[in-house]
Amino acid sequence: MYENLIKSVIVDNIEEGIIIFDTSLNIVYANNRCKEKLGILDENIIGVSLFSIFKSVTANESHIIKVFETGEPLIGYYDEIINLRGRKVNLFNSTYPIKENGRTKYVIDLYREINGYYEMENRIKILQTDCKNVEKSNINIRENNGTTFTLDNFIGKSKSIKELKYKINSISNSDSSVLVYGETGTGKEVLVQSIHNLSKFRSCHPFIAQNCAALPNTLLESILFGVERGSYTDAVARPGLFELANNGTLFLDEINSMDIDLQGKLLRVLEDGIVRRIGSINIKNVNTRVIASTNVRPCTLLEHKKIRKDLFYRLNAIFLEIPPLRERKDDIEELAYYYINFYNNKYNRSIKKISNKVMDMFINYQWPGNVRELQNVIESSVGITEDVDIICVESLSDSFLNKLLRSYNTIEILSNDLFERSLNENLAIYEVKLIKEKIVESNGNISAAAKLLGLPRQTLFSKIKKYNIEWDVNIK
Ligand SMILES: Nc1ncnc2c1ncn2[C@@H]1O[C@H](COP(=O)(O)OP(=O)(O)OP(=O)(O)O)[C@@H](O)[C@H]1O
Ligand SMILES: [Mg+2]
Repeated sequence: MYENLIKSVIVDNIEEGIIIFDTSLNIVYANNRCKEKLGILDENIIGVSLFSIFKSVTANESHIIKVFETGEPLIGYYDEIINLRGRKVNLFNSTYPIKENGRTKYVIDLYREINGYYEMENRIKILQTDCKNVEKSNINIRENNGTTFTLDNFIGKSKSIKELKYKINSISNSDSSVLVYGETGTGKEVLVQSIHNLSKFRSCHPFIAQNCAALPNTLLESILFGVERGSYTDAVARPGLFELANNGTLFLDEINSMDIDLQGKLLRVLEDGIVRRIGSINIKNVNTRVIASTNVRPCTLLEHKKIRKDLFYRLNAIFLEIPPLRERKDDIEELAYYYINFYNNKYNRSIKKISNKVMDMFINYQWPGNVRELQNVIESSVGITEDVDIICVESLSDSFLNKLLRSYNTIEILSNDLFERSLNENLAIYEVKLIKEKIVESNGNISAAAKLLGLPRQTLFSKIKKYNIEWDVNIK
């Protein structure tokens, strides 16, 4: 009874297609999902031959036959078939032998349809074309190598940034793996591309970045290592990013999102310099420099077992840390002017200066989004500023002003140069300060705070909303 239940409810409804062949290459079992993917209309397909299901398969190409011959499983390979109803189906397969007394009696094939593979396929095709262009081209090689940044784009004069620049100059020609840590928006991508472009040898070869968080791990594996010619039909073999970035750099962004098994496979490639495409028995030597990045502190990753220790030590051959912007305030002014210049050109503006007041605000702000946030603030300020050549408080967007007003420190700073501001600015700042004080005084009770301020409760609420004031009792 349970067997039937398992068969009808579980086996026929799971995502995986299951098909089993005997030594005569005839089907002994296929679940409903399998029939659906393969376009099989007949109810009863027991005894039907492999060759009448996969019409264009030859004995040499069949993974099923390979597993019968070798007795070894083939785990996790990509396959592309045209099913019996003429539909192209992209599959991710694993094929296992079922043995009795050491002899393979059956072969079971498990597979899952991969959605979204076409997008990835197109991306790989573009990468392949780009790589060919890089090889052919003698001019503007850097522009064609897959990068947009060089060290000139990595702005900063703080001690930590100067040290980083010195360090990347000295490691750019080495082949060792690199691990880069930095909070979001600190410039990891800029730094990694700069390393590639500083290398005399690698800068003439491709730079390829892959975000490990962007793909399911099975797909990521085939993207990284490539896949062999399909087992059933005329599926085309594809090189992985390791091969495509040969002699260049492969940037594995957010390495901590890669699952532990795949990390083990990555480690093997790093140790041996050899890749084997999924489903292939052949190996290929690659000379691909791997640079990985994480925006979670490496010790936290190790502590929470998000990264294998052995992989960590391999990647960590060279460790680079980009400090958050709040810890290198010396860089803020230079970065701000760099981006003013950039957006002046882009939007055809001629802004020359940032007012002292705004610069003070910038210096005292915490920049949780780091350089990316500063860049965005400058972009919107350049956009807002018309007719004048200076960025002043009026040039700042409402959303950024709200963030500033929420920061108590900034309000203190603003209070110091009372006479430089317009009456309305001073009034707004004073109002926020007063509202915060009264909310604290009344232990976060809005009705009581409204009473203290002599305002209707509703008016106080609209002011809280306007200035985005936090109103829990812990407010400082
Ligand atoms: N030192 C810098 N000089 C100039 N621009 C910088 C610098 N650091 C970062 N930027 C700019 O900030 C933006 C974000 O940088 P980047 O993409 O390199 O950050 P990231 O550390 O990779 O962030 P995430 O973890 O979110 O991917 C980019 O537009 C980049 O040009
Ligand atoms: Mg990044």
